[in-house]
Amino acid sequence: MARRKKVRQKRDQEKKEILQPLVVRIWHWIHALAIVLLVLTGIQLRFPDLISWFGTFKTAVDVHNIFGFIVLFDYVLWFGFYLITGELFKQYAPTPEDFTIGIPTQSTYYFARIFFGDPPPFEPTPKAKFNSLQKTTYFGIMFVLVPLQVVTGVLLWDLERFRPLIAALGGVRVLDAFHIILAYIFTSFLIVHIYLSTLGHTFFSHFKAMIVGYEEKETGHTQTSA
Ligand code: HEM
Repeated sequence: MARRKKVRQKRDQEKKEILQPLVVRIWHWIHALAIVLLVLTGIQLRFPDLISWFGTFKTAVDVHNIFGFIVLFDYVLWFGFYLITGELFKQYAPTPEDFTIGIPTQSTYYFARIFFGDPPPFEPTPKAKFNSLQKTTYFGIMFVLVPLQVVTGVLLWDLERFRPLIAALGGVRVLDAFHIILAYIFTSFLIVHIYLSTLGHTFFSHFKAMIVGYEEKETGHTQTSA
């Protein structure tokens, strides 16, 4: 009787294995909200004659600047958390095998095998949360794109103060074009990211993990991640 209870408790615990620690969840949703608002205000700043979602041009600029700095501080939270836990590169840095085996396998799954009901080729664990495609994409986003977007944004935020640096980088127009191209890449990432987040064992299972920290593992079913 006691043994059966223990087995049940162990199974329940395994079912609720924490994939997304609280700090990561807090970071992620602040980041997601801020990026969505940056994209929307950015569209108004780009097409001020057509769009007035945030009222005046000045309000859109202010909201854009505030959420830009929120992304900057939130990034420090993400980086600091993963650095302190020693997980930064373990979770995010792709290995040569990710390129030679992982990415082709995962892509074949997303483009074909998923439609035949095949099981996902990768099962996330707290120590290895990302499949090869995720790892590579998230690495590019978090180590290259976000820092570049933040740095170009900060330079554009105070043209006077950073004038010499901006001139050295090719001028305001070049910097602005670069900032906008990065924003288009972000928006494309966001669309694909949200779509892939729906491909867990249920439509909402990955969203649930990003809210409560764990996904229920169904018997006979593997956990997957977008
Ligand atoms: C409304 C917007 C968003 C939604 C609904 C969303 C949804 C999710 C979900 C469900 C997960 C967990 C599944 C997984 O690991 O892939 C996740 C993880 C992640 N998302 Fe998002 N996301 C959004 C915006 C963003 C943005 C804007 C970025 C970055 C620019 C981002 C970067 C990430 C990263 C890096 C992870 C992995 C976090 C970790 O475990 O360390 N997400 N997202």
